[in-house]
Amino acid sequence: MLFSASRLRHTNLLPATACLLCFLSCLSSSAELLIGSQKCVFIFATGRSGSTSLMDALNQIPHYLIRGETWVAHGNLFSAYQHLREARTSPGQEFFHFAKIRERFKDVKLAYGKRAETTRLPFFNEFSEDRVLLATRAYYTVLYGHYGKDVVSGFKEIRYVCGVYFNQTRCDEHFQEFVGFLRGMCHDVKFLFNTRLSASLESNIKRFQMFDNVTFATDFTHLLNKTHTLYDNYAMQHSDHAFRVYMEDMFNIERNATLARNLLQFLGEDTSIPIRFNRMPGWQPSYPTP
Ligand SMILES: *[C@@H]1O[C@H](CO)[C@@H](O)[C@H](O)[C@H]1NC(C)=O
Ligand SMILES: *[C@@H]1O[C@H](CO)[C@@H](O)[C@H](O)[C@H]1NC(C)=O
Ligand SMILES: *[C@@H]1O[C@H](CO)[C@@H](O)[C@H](O)[C@H]1NC(C)=O
Ligand SMILES: *[C@@H]1O[C@H](CO)[C@@H](O)[C@H](O)[C@H]1NC(C)=O
Repeated sequence: MLFSASRLRHTNLLPATACLLCFLSCLSSSAELLIGSQKCVFIFATGRSGSTSLMDALNQIPHYLIRGETWVAHGNLFSAYQHLREARTSPGQEFFHFAKIRERFKDVKLAYGKRAETTRLPFFNEFSEDRVLLATRAYYTVLYGHYGKDVVSGFKEIRYVCGVYFNQTRCDEHFQEFVGFLRGMCHDVKFLFNTRLSASLESNIKRFQMFDNVTFATDFTHLLNKTHTLYDNYAMQHSDHAFRVYMEDMFNIERNATLARNLLQFLGEDTSIPIRFNRMPGWQPSYPTP
């Protein structure tokens, strides 16, 4: 089932969430925390394709703070969201009609107490979907979005690739679900999909060498090709919130300025902001520049 991003975006904060909101506002004086992060940029990349330089280019925009790798922490957050949501329909939960009971402590205890005398209730919990979504958004906001609504936050991660985080037999589905989930994390979410131009083994030999495994060259290129195709198609179909960045363009003297401008335009930023892709030390071109 696809995650409905619009649902989170339009979630009404129930009165019962007041305690959470108070907790959040105590952590920061910024009132923006109450409604979550405004604008976020998430970079998905295949390894050794310039994602750190891309992240650094974005971080040259004065109000941007894009953080680095998290070992799929957000993927784990997605799993937590799915498990908590699924718990609502687990065995024994069908006895409870929480929409009617409402989230009042007294009512929930009463409903539980009545049923517990006759039924074992190992899956009992009264978390509404709205509450699970709010918790997800709060998690992101407390870690990433706490500098206020004028700061654009985000992360880059090289593990959101078929056969790494995405299950290789159902990569497409898993990718769509996860992207949908992340779209609900902030009010305005933009994705950058960063790879090399080609998915061939030759172009990606450095990434191949990251895997301590020389036996799966066929799988490697197949899964990389699948990943490129997913990124390409998604960016093509959702050009308002997804953009493709090829490493070769970042480091090509004839194309890097155009890429920088297009990137800033896509992000809705002033296209004259000076950013460059080669600020970080240690950059070595691994292909001939024209
Ligand atoms: C991938 O999905 C298939 C089918 O749902 C499942 O059998 C398999 O265990 C999954 N693999 C991983 C690594 O999660
Ligand atoms: C993926 O493989 C298909 C079929 O071999 C090929 O046409 C396509 O160009 C490849 N895509 C990439 C990004 O390498
Ligand atoms: C190499 O990778 C393949 C595909 O992921 C895996 O099936 C195989 O067990 C790995 N071999 C070794 C020696 O790690
Ligand atoms: C493009 O490459 C040239 C030469 O390396 C460099 O001076 C310039 O800053 C680069 N521009 C961007 C946007 O990276």
